[in-house]
Amino acid sequence: MPISVAVDGPVGAGKSTIARAAAARLGFVYCDTGALYRAVGLYCVRQEIIDDKDKIEECLDDISVSLRIVNGYQKVYLNGDDVSAEIRFPAISMAASTVSAIPAVRNALLGIQRKIAEENDVIMDGRDIGTVVLPDADVKIFLTAKAEIRAERRYTELRKKGVKTTYEQVLDDLKRRDYNDTHRAAAPLRLAEGAKLADTSELDFEQSVDLICGIIEDTVNAE
Ligand code: DC
Repeated sequence: MPISVAVDGPVGAGKSTIARAAAARLGFVYCDTGALYRAVGLYCVRQEIIDDKDKIEECLDDISVSLRIVNGYQKVYLNGDDVSAEIRFPAISMAASTVSAIPAVRNALLGIQRKIAEENDVIMDGRDIGTVVLPDADVKIFLTAKAEIRAERRYTELRKKGVKTTYEQVLDDLKRRDYNDTHRAAAPLRLAEGAKLADTSELDFEQSVDLICGIIEDTVNAE
């Protein structure tokens, strides 16, 4: 049976960069499940139906979302088109948060995620991986950091990509998404049973990767 590692946590905790580096170090596939919600969000923004829950539910049959690993990097496809770059725009972050609160959207994306874990040693990051998607994951980690620190990191990342924004805007957006993600009725973000808490507020990137790899190795070796 392949080994599965669930990494959940709030926006901007560094889940994707830390989990990707840990996966590369340990020889696991890395899967960023937020990209799936972002792809659905992008479709709804393009169709101008993001404010209409019924239409979002109806359009699910018209959407095909898939993940592929190309040269070690995850690419996200929406109806056959590579949308990996477009889904990272801030407007799509909020759209992803909106669609992710709809149970039909979550159900539609469940099979894709479970199949990846059935076929690969995987580190999968998201909000509900340890609670819903892979409740029997071999290792569960809740990765977090203080909101201000997460906002600072995300702001620096967006600036590097040339996205025009302010720290205050990023912090505000992050707090709103934290609220949405933890208060929604469908699979809210919470600490999964048996999850280890990893707070990276005081850690740099390498230290965070060391922490995650240490938790994974200790847990797998103890089994
Ligand atoms: O991790 P991210 O910022 O790319 O995620 C985008 C949105 O998708 C975020 O608001 C929460 C949601 N999401 C989710 O509900 N469940 C997941 N497994 C992953 C992301």
